[in-house]
Amino acid sequence: MAQIIIIEPNQSLQELISLNLKTYLSSEIIPRDNAKEAIALLNILPSIDLIITTYQVGSENTAKNLHSYLKQNPSETQMVILGGPNSPKHIQDMPQELSSYFYVPSTKDWEKVITHCGNLLGHSTDVMNKKSHPDFVSIPIDYFLHLNTTCCDTFLRIKKGPNKFQFIKRIHAGDNYNKEMIYKYKDQGLKNFFIPKQDQQNFTNYVSDFLVNKLSESSPFPSDGGKINAEDIPNQYFEQLDVNFHVALNEIKTLGFTSATIQLTDSIIENMMVSINQSSKMSTLLRKVLNSKSRYLYQHAHLTLIVATEILVALGKNTPHNIELLSYACFFKDIALGDRPELAKISTVEQLKESNLSSDDWGLIMNHAKDGADIIRHHDEAPLSIDQLILTHHGSPDGRGFFDKADNNLKEFNLIQNLFILCNDFVVELLLFKEKGGKPQPIIQILKDRYGNEKTSEILALMEKILKTRSSKN
Ligand SMILES: [Fe+2]
Repeated sequence: MAQIIIIEPNQSLQELISLNLKTYLSSEIIPRDNAKEAIALLNILPSIDLIITTYQVGSENTAKNLHSYLKQNPSETQMVILGGPNSPKHIQDMPQELSSYFYVPSTKDWEKVITHCGNLLGHSTDVMNKKSHPDFVSIPIDYFLHLNTTCCDTFLRIKKGPNKFQFIKRIHAGDNYNKEMIYKYKDQGLKNFFIPKQDQQNFTNYVSDFLVNKLSESSPFPSDGGKINAEDIPNQYFEQLDVNFHVALNEIKTLGFTSATIQLTDSIIENMMVSINQSSKMSTLLRKVLNSKSRYLYQHAHLTLIVATEILVALGKNTPHNIELLSYACFFKDIALGDRPELAKISTVEQLKESNLSSDDWGLIMNHAKDGADIIRHHDEAPLSIDQLILTHHGSPDGRGFFDKADNNLKEFNLIQNLFILCNDFVVELLLFKEKGGKPQPIIQILKDRYGNEKTSEILALMEKILKTRSSKN
């Protein structure tokens, strides 16, 4: 069994690396606070195989001190250096005397640390992969609130030791289970149940079929295409759309585009389109979605489609192709922020600068349009050029960041792209007002100040007209 000293003041990181070293390399881990303590141990145990150390602990030049010790006391002990608050940002910036050591500037790359330590200790390069495929996969507990039965046995995971888990069967395949039991676990803070990995695909198919049927059952729209008063649409219909929407985003992220995730996505997009085509009054439909018990990303998608469709109709451009294009764009535009819906509330560089978000979150927001476009390219049945529409939905031509007035890229975009940018932002402002309340904001004026030019003026004028007509009717 290899012996490894670890010096890492970040307790969580130290535990994470230690746990994985034990799991994957079956090593004995000896934590030490600094180079001084580690050197004291090396004097007693010169056979230590490896030191994993942060670059610097407080004012102590930890990695340099350990290097000096190893140089003066030649042994088989190897060293890996981790980045920290005052460490070089890049490998090439390491001081000359430390340049021969393996250096991981970002400690988020802890898997690299484990893999490299494995190599140093003589394990094969796939040390992580050998054990990284568990026999069980996690399923968010909320899924089981939406279902009544499952197609496979479902387990609770109990921690039995630092890296030992036991799986206990909690729901038998095909059984009707008690939802109270699920609520109770959820109240206790349980996030996931587990199912056998070989059942994952079947489970997704089962969930998809179940949710598609449930949405179909809750739809109030006549199958002959006849219209109904939007006031009569039950709230439960929007809540079901919300559930299906978020399960679809999550499943696409986990499994990609499979027949099940495509079936589920198609039924949501179809229902959003039907709700618009078969509702007698758009302003009522908009209000019903806005006031439904549903989450931000679903509301944003459906509301954007409602507003965009109204303007398309007013422009006389409501061809089936344009409607389909916008429907897909509304569904997929923020898929990269599926786990972080609060980040989708930011739609300008100024808001981003004021947000005090971490650099990781900053990166997520800045790249989400490009990431969304990359994801949709894997969907073979999506409309052509949908990736471009998602790429530019914040007004940046390469999908990074937001519209820059100095560049005024809107001039280069086509009508649908500009329409989508404006409607997307209109709904961001609308939802912001709903959330924050206060004095009604002149949203159209905000959009005019932000995006006004000769190519957007017609769309903005139509938006204004539609809003005025609505408020005079209401
Ligand atoms: Fe977005």
